[in-house]
Amino acid sequence: NAYDEAFRTARNAPEQFWGEAAQNVTWFEPWSRTMDNGDAIFPKCRFGLNVCHNAVDRHVESGRGDQPAIIYDSPVTGTKQTITFRELQEQVSRLAGVLVKRGVWKGDLVVIYMPMVPQAMFTMLACARIGAPHSLIFGGFASKELSVRIDHAKPKMIVTASFGIEPGRRVEYIPLVEKALELSSHSPSKVLIYNRPGMEKVSMHPDLSLDWEEEMSTARPHDCVSLPASHPLYVLYTSGTTGAPKGVVRDTAGYAVMLTWTMANIYGLKPGEVWWAASDLGWVVGHSYICYAPLLHGNTTILYEGKPVGTPDAGAFFRVLSEHGCSSMFTAPTAIRAIRQQDTHSAIGAQYPLTRLKSLFLAGEHCDVETLNWAKRSFGVPVLDHWWQTESGSAITSSCIGLGNSLSPPAGQAGKPSLSLSHPYTHPLSLLSSRLPLPPGAALSLWQNQELFKELYFTKFPGFYDTMDAGYVDEEGFLYIMSRSDDVINVAGHRLSAGALEESVLLHPGVVDCAVVGLEDSLKGHVPLALCVLRNEIQTPEIVSLVRETIGPVAAFRKVLIVRGLPKTRSGKIPRSSLANLVNGKPYTISPTIEDPDVYKDIEKMVKQELRPAG
Ligand code: COA
Ligand code: AMP
Repeated sequence: NAYDEAFRTARNAPEQFWGEAAQNVTWFEPWSRTMDNGDAIFPKCRFGLNVCHNAVDRHVESGRGDQPAIIYDSPVTGTKQTITFRELQEQVSRLAGVLVKRGVWKGDLVVIYMPMVPQAMFTMLACARIGAPHSLIFGGFASKELSVRIDHAKPKMIVTASFGIEPGRRVEYIPLVEKALELSSHSPSKVLIYNRPGMEKVSMHPDLSLDWEEEMSTARPHDCVSLPASHPLYVLYTSGTTGAPKGVVRDTAGYAVMLTWTMANIYGLKPGEVWWAASDLGWVVGHSYICYAPLLHGNTTILYEGKPVGTPDAGAFFRVLSEHGCSSMFTAPTAIRAIRQQDTHSAIGAQYPLTRLKSLFLAGEHCDVETLNWAKRSFGVPVLDHWWQTESGSAITSSCIGLGNSLSPPAGQAGKPSLSLSHPYTHPLSLLSSRLPLPPGAALSLWQNQELFKELYFTKFPGFYDTMDAGYVDEEGFLYIMSRSDDVINVAGHRLSAGALEESVLLHPGVVDCAVVGLEDSLKGHVPLALCVLRNEIQTPEIVSLVRETIGPVAAFRKVLIVRGLPKTRSGKIPRSSLANLVNGKPYTISPTIEDPDVYKDIEKMVKQELRPAG
């Protein structure tokens, strides 16, 4: 079929394959070669283009000016707003003018810390317009995490908003930014604040603070600049084994070509159709599929400021899909589980006709078969799981429905290689890796740390990219993704570092030792559980608030188990995987290098007493 043929060409003649795909992107300068793989890890390309031009301006030029580019639907504020491509161009070009006037230029980094408002997307695109890489930080991270990223990214400017809204509370961004700046040694030259309507204006120190509305009112539009293909479009921080920041660097050309290709070939969409990725702009799915890919491909993208449940009820997703005539959607299994828990028979959802909906895509965490089947029944369309990472920028495996692949693949699989990482291989222990070179749009490097990039991803299996996920391939070539092979915990589709959580818990003077592992959870997949050895008696809520204040509420950290001791290897390492198996009631093995194996028995006893007293 078309998929097999495309896969073969992408593998055997990548120049030809990506050369053709690159025709769907507008270039400022002609080019002759698509690949320069002298160094398989760091391909170099020199031709010029601009992602913002491709996502916005060229659609206005080609007659899509009046088509909605963004539909902002915010049940938490009771707002709905449609922004056409022409209006988007106007906002983004003026904002680019503000950035330049305030000293931000090509190569200067801008940190964005904003809720799910269109202004966050305007800022991303305005940065892309002038070649200033952005680093958007998820609003659920607190001051300490924000400050670590500020210190690492060294932004010239921070763009933020007055507040975000979470069910039942307002998230005041300004005190969070102020505290983060107090904690960091780097200071930006300006902080641009978008004051959300309806509340009193907020500001910061007059030397730093700029008001969005005032700046925009006098701004002169700025045009798109031509950028080299490998110019960094953004830096997206993600979690690894340790708490050290890992800023994934995304390129310009490869990403634009790949994302444009995926909209038609993976998601089967035509330009003009309405698309919704119900994620947050702070995650890779938000960067790629709320912002860049749909706009690059001329689709209308929905920006939703709400939750799957509680804003106001479990019918929210169905309402949005129905009201905006959405053709296809992307969300995380956790969101489906949340809806299912509250509306098991889809009684609320069924009130909304989904006449245009063709498919639903899932990613972010392992999807259990029951959730998948429930989603198929409730949304009445094919539900397709696909496998993703911040590093890949687009799906590693998927169903490629635009290339004629089956709409009902076997349950439990996450698709076949979607050419994104075109050769996934399994190694002993079922570790998944992919043969180099990396495809267009995959991570270019780690910000300020090419050496770490090489070391982390490319040394374990020379000639391959180590995905750090474990899984297997079946006889028909479908991949099944089971778990991370490192110490990353996936909580409600959010990637958290066990190491960073431990560092945060250990800030409490009463805690001597700590291990954080993922405890299975029927809604969020996993939640973090801290096994703590105490110096003196303390109340566990103190540890919980400490993590909330340092890492942020996104850690969904509530569970602490006090234990007498933790197993350690002779070199002092805590064997987190055996502990994770233990707390989840699974068989575990005790490595012969563990110094005091008896602590496992103690921990088992505590788990029985505290976590499953009935069992
Ligand atoms: N700003 C500030 N706080 C935030 C936040 C943000 N942008 N996003 C989440 N939080 C807070 C939540 O309010 C919650 O705080 P609480 O402990 O005071 O209740 C905490 O972080 C944990 O959030 P979460 O784990 O998301 O739980 P939730 O109860 O708010 O929502 C779901 C549960 C299932 C609705 C939600 O996790 C969800 O939609 N998950 C899908 C994730 C996703 O789309 N991932 C992207 C991969 S495709
Ligand atoms: P992130 O970089 O935050 O997008 O998280 C990436 C991680 O989420 C991957 O390494 C996987 O562990 C997990 N993940 C993403 N998609 C899937 C999927 N479809 N099935 C199983 N795990 C997934």
